[in-house]
Amino acid sequence: MTDVKAVPQSSIDPDVTSGVAQFLTPVVVDLQALAVDGKQAHWHVRGPNFQAVHELLDEVVAHAQEFADLAAERVVALGLPIDARIQTVAKKTSTPALKEGFQQSDQVIAQVIAGIDATLKNVHTAIDELDALDQASQDVAIEIARGLEKDRWFLFAHIAG
Ligand SMILES: [Fe+2]
Repeated sequence: MTDVKAVPQSSIDPDVTSGVAQFLTPVVVDLQALAVDGKQAHWHVRGPNFQAVHELLDEVVAHAQEFADLAAERVVALGLPIDARIQTVAKKTSTPALKEGFQQSDQVIAQVIAGIDATLKNVHTAIDELDALDQASQDVAIEIARGLEKDRWFLFAHIAG
């Protein structure tokens, strides 16, 4: 009979799991920041195309939350914890600070795109580094890149001439 206590945390080598956590944690942190600031943007956007941008920003938030969950649960599935507490996110996010208060939609969109671009930098690092380490985890990063790039397009279309 299988000894319950002998069941390992993960079937994957601990060096691999720590590498996955190393490259996916910054992605989770940035996505959580993007979700919080995306809501702030959703509440404070103003301008003639308010309704469309207001609703689009809620979709960006929902996607950021889904992607954060996807990346965090990949790390946790491999047996390691994630630190995405609000204080940690505030300290470690690579996304730039959003201006406070009401803003015109083009300014809001430019700032949210800057947040997406900062996040994508970490996502692309994860894609590159996880290629040799763990392709199932790399696939998570690839899915996130594809989704963020689509949201970026939807946002950019509002400000492109
Ligand atoms: Fe809302």
